[in-house]
Amino acid sequence: MYKVVERRMIVPNMHEFTVLAPAVAESVKPGNFIIVRPDASGERIPLSVADWDREAGTVTSIFMQVGASTAKLARLKPGDSVPTFVGPLGRETVIDKFGTVLLVGGCYGIGSIYPTARALKEAGNKVVTLIEARSSFLLFWEDKLARASDKVLVITRDGTKGQKGHVSRIPEMMQRAGIVPDLVIVNGCTFQMMQVSRLTKPLGWKTIVNMNPIMIDGTGMCGVCRLTVGGKTKFACVDGPDFDGHEIDWEEFLARRKTYNPEEVDPLRRSTCRSHF
Ligand code: FES
Repeated sequence: MYKVVERRMIVPNMHEFTVLAPAVAESVKPGNFIIVRPDASGERIPLSVADWDREAGTVTSIFMQVGASTAKLARLKPGDSVPTFVGPLGRETVIDKFGTVLLVGGCYGIGSIYPTARALKEAGNKVVTLIEARSSFLLFWEDKLARASDKVLVITRDGTKGQKGHVSRIPEMMQRAGIVPDLVIVNGCTFQMMQVSRLTKPLGWKTIVNMNPIMIDGTGMCGVCRLTVGGKTKFACVDGPDFDGHEIDWEEFLARRKTYNPEEVDPLRRSTCRSHF
């Protein structure tokens, strides 16, 4: 059993989740993920790693409550335990001296982009971090990201902070700031990663995305996480989760991602309804 050190909602529907798992904390790297089960009968949930403390032996993830399984995670309290906490899984993000790196984070990716920013800065890159949300009240970890970046830019869809709009504003924002990235790395929801990849392709900006498919074992055995990259079948859990965003078959990936939406969301809807009576 793994002890929950912290589980708190940091912005609506988004939770910071820290677990005592010294073996994972010892070797985790930016871009890795873990698989957690909230209880003995629960599903295996893959979560990107957002931070760790090797001395304390803790690992932190940010997750969004979207369905029945993440609702169970969201009910955990400090001091509770989870039966499964496996990791670090997947290949780590390649950290090198690239020059200027634009990191784009949205949703839970605002958290998981943080260790990548920190490592790239330590490697001597100029790190420009851009975070995006529907509104300013959905942003988090801005102070942590500012410490790990040379510049932090914000886009909110309602204009309550930073640039008003969507990630489609990135090229003009970069032009205004006089930035031509040598590499773009995107962490966040599938749609955002797809949009950024489609924007950067004609500009010739190499773009790495940290993919988030449905997973079961996380070790290349079940095949559930497969996706097509450059016309070839890959498994996100062992070949990724980082891939070249310009080579992914996004339509296929989006369709596979939605496969279990009814099974995931309907039980939540039923249990939420019951709680009102
Ligand atoms: Fe089973 Fe990747 S999660 S093969």
